[in-house]
Amino acid sequence: MRAYDIIYRKRMGEELTTEEIRALVSGFVSGEVPDYQMAAWAMAVCIRGMTPRETADLTMAMAESGDQIDLSAIAGRKVDKHSTGGVGDKVSLVLVPLVAACGAPVAKMSGRGLGHTGGTLDKLESIPGFRVELSPEEFVAQVNRIGCAVAGQTGDLVPADKKLYALRDVTATVDSIPLIASSIMAKKIAGGADAVVLDVKTGSGAFMKSLDEAFRLAEAMVAIGRQVGREVAALVSDMDQPLGHAVGNALEVAEAIETLRGFGPKDLEEICLQLGAQMLRLAGVAADGAEARKMLLRALRSGRGLSKLIEMVEAQGGDAGCIRQPVKLPRAQRVVPVTAPEGGYVQSITALEVGVAAQLLGAGRETKESPIDLSVGVVLRKKVGEPVAPGDVLAELHVSDDRRLAEAQERLLGAYRIGPGQPAPRPLVYGLVT
Ligand code: URA
Repeated sequence: MRAYDIIYRKRMGEELTTEEIRALVSGFVSGEVPDYQMAAWAMAVCIRGMTPRETADLTMAMAESGDQIDLSAIAGRKVDKHSTGGVGDKVSLVLVPLVAACGAPVAKMSGRGLGHTGGTLDKLESIPGFRVELSPEEFVAQVNRIGCAVAGQTGDLVPADKKLYALRDVTATVDSIPLIASSIMAKKIAGGADAVVLDVKTGSGAFMKSLDEAFRLAEAMVAIGRQVGREVAALVSDMDQPLGHAVGNALEVAEAIETLRGFGPKDLEEICLQLGAQMLRLAGVAADGAEARKMLLRALRSGRGLSKLIEMVEAQGGDAGCIRQPVKLPRAQRVVPVTAPEGGYVQSITALEVGVAAQLLGAGRETKESPIDLSVGVVLRKKVGEPVAPGDVLAELHVSDDRRLAEAQERLLGAYRIGPGQPAPRPLVYGLVT
């Protein structure tokens, strides 16, 4: 089977066989198929697309290209959650303990932040002592003992995706629905999940800028699940403005704790309830979404979700005193307000620009190797729809290094659009795809 023929057939818009897709992926991983042929094929996919069957075959070929996590030693249906990423997205910090407190085991593998989006591992590392590197045995044992664990990837998971993503990144072939859907789902399947709940973000701070693209991605991932025997539910949710108020690692942990105490921002609480309801439903712990929501609300109001977070932090070597008293979390040296130049209503807050401002302060990485400051970031004091008077504080910058402060201030101010008249509220959740 020649790579040339596979590329040619895709270029002509033909449907590839399972064998062809497998041969291409394994040849690429082994080095037999050079980068230039794989890049040509990815470009053909961008232009011609893939059928649901081809997309599922690509997903499985990638999922099986390296190590796969075996979670069979954990009793019950393991439901993973994945967000396509956004600004201020600290959902996992709330959701993992909350869902575990309702009786569904959560074995969550997370990643680090890059660019304007944060990563759950960095956020958790702002809790002094918290260990994100667990061996597979420790990971499974912890979930069996307390019901949840969050750790970084171990072993060589989905090497085909690592190699292909790096190639797509430099050949203008990232934004293809079948390539994105298979890349995400391959990692979830190799991570050992029985079922997956996806949060597909849409808006200025999201990967999928338009609602139509976000729904198409959600549908593609749900279809992969159907083809490969995993239950998948996907919420399409708003990321036009940041989620909650805090953007930055320790600041987001503090906001997640507030949410588990029942005093968090309403948008964050609501998205956690909706995603959590799908997780409990797919785990078989609740009969339907309505029952699941009641269970989650009880866990939230009773403080059981917060207790579960404390248990998880202790189990992973972290200082649980920081959860009981978030003032003990790392703090930036000073807080610089950004004020409104004019009055009116906040019409929009470009999430991407807020993320960039936090990154400029040191909260996010420019490259995979760059160091980050876990204490710094942005706290939004006004969100879309709120009235502002001239001079009101729109947001606070938590700063320890002034070198790029002026740029961060400018980006943050530029993120806010203030105008007359209260804008119609945007929905937080646009729909559920199952
Ligand atoms: N996130 C992924 O994991 N893969 C993609 O292809 C795009 C976003």
